[in-house]
Amino acid sequence: MDPERARRFSFAARPGATPLRIARSEGIWLYTDDGQQILDASGGAIVSNIGHGRSEVANAYARELERVSYVIPPFATESRLKLVERLIGSWLPSGLSRVAFTSGGSESVDAALRISRAHFVAKGEPKRWKVIGRELSYHGTTLATLAVGGHQKRRAGFEPWLAEMPKAPACYCWRCPLAKAYPGCGVACADEVEAAIRRAGPETVAAVIAEPIGGSTAGALVPPDEYWPKLAEICKRHGVLLIADEVMTGFGRTGKRFAVDHWGVTPDILVGGKGLTGGYAPMGGIFASEAVVAPIAEQGQEVMFFTYSAHPASCAAADKVLEIMEREHLVERAARMGEVLGKRLSRLLDHPNVGDVRGRGLLWAVELVADKATKMPFPVATGLTAKVVAAGLSHGIFVYPGGVDPARDVITFGPAFTITEADIDQVGERFERALESALARVA
Ligand SMILES: Cc1ncc(COP(=O)(O)O)c(C=O)c1O
Repeated sequence: MDPERARRFSFAARPGATPLRIARSEGIWLYTDDGQQILDASGGAIVSNIGHGRSEVANAYARELERVSYVIPPFATESRLKLVERLIGSWLPSGLSRVAFTSGGSESVDAALRISRAHFVAKGEPKRWKVIGRELSYHGTTLATLAVGGHQKRRAGFEPWLAEMPKAPACYCWRCPLAKAYPGCGVACADEVEAAIRRAGPETVAAVIAEPIGGSTAGALVPPDEYWPKLAEICKRHGVLLIADEVMTGFGRTGKRFAVDHWGVTPDILVGGKGLTGGYAPMGGIFASEAVVAPIAEQGQEVMFFTYSAHPASCAAADKVLEIMEREHLVERAARMGEVLGKRLSRLLDHPNVGDVRGRGLLWAVELVADKATKMPFPVATGLTAKVVAAGLSHGIFVYPGGVDPARDVITFGPAFTITEADIDQVGERFERALESALARVA
């Protein structure tokens, strides 16, 4: 590939760096220009859920483009209405009956934050503007979503532009930030959310935002079962809206339709992205209760849309992807195959540099450390995660890089729900080889 063409492709390509060139993708496989076959063990950025290359989705997308190429988001089209009906009828936790779409996760979280603020302004409580976030979290890369997020690497340099939003500790049992241990801790990390609300002044807090299972920042942080019910109770008691960011965990990824379904919690606002279209079209969604939207509507206010929100063809693609997931029982399959993947990855716990293996459904992470006894990470200069990902590509596997201190080196796995047991063996073998060759370069 012409290096000059490749250099212009990205704002930040390192001198001499050439992006991987993908010619085609099918099922769980990516095919490079020069014929290499790569197992997509993370479904891209934890996106691909029905697998790549389904012509059924491409056809639905193309058909809708022929019918309606573009109309502004507030207009109704058949594809929009059909998708909303499917979501409310078969997917969303009951009680979430208001739906809006965007072009992705960051836009959706941004809109959810604005909706939470607009709700209180419309209700005559304009003092409520703060949104409590958590450390080691990611909610997107717009300025508002960076402000509520706790991904220090992605916030770095932008701090002067970010509103001061209070933070609670992450729910990270393997390195508990409160130096406690479950179950004796009494899930004190949830009490810390309440403490943050109290410190901020409950009358100034609009919402709490959290990923039900932490995504790729610290890697598949699964909370204790008591955490989300407790969070919901705390928010309710303080009149604060609870926003579940399910951009990564939604639409079956963790073995339930939504991760909050593991604990029977219905948030006030739920945000989705990635899996909604499984990568076939850029799209995200905001799903809220009537009670959240009613005051805004009563005041005749509108929540401004993005030009490409609810694109008719994206709606048609999403509707087809969800139909395929229902027809092929892929959410149940994610739960089943997730157990197999979890068992296979847990075999790595014998390795001296594998500190923790954690996850739920088909969202798993491996945390790498220099010293298992002390949980000390490798030096920053080692750049271990990047080395593992690069070694993976040469061993025919793509894994997703994550990690922010103290979870410095984290590799995330999130393959398509169509993955088989034999494929999972391949994931384990290829990843083991990649890990060994990356560690050999570090020693
Ligand atoms: C939990 C969560 N929220 C928001 C986002 C941002 O989504 P997008 O990259 O589609 O803007 C991500 C992306 O990884 C995410 O994992």
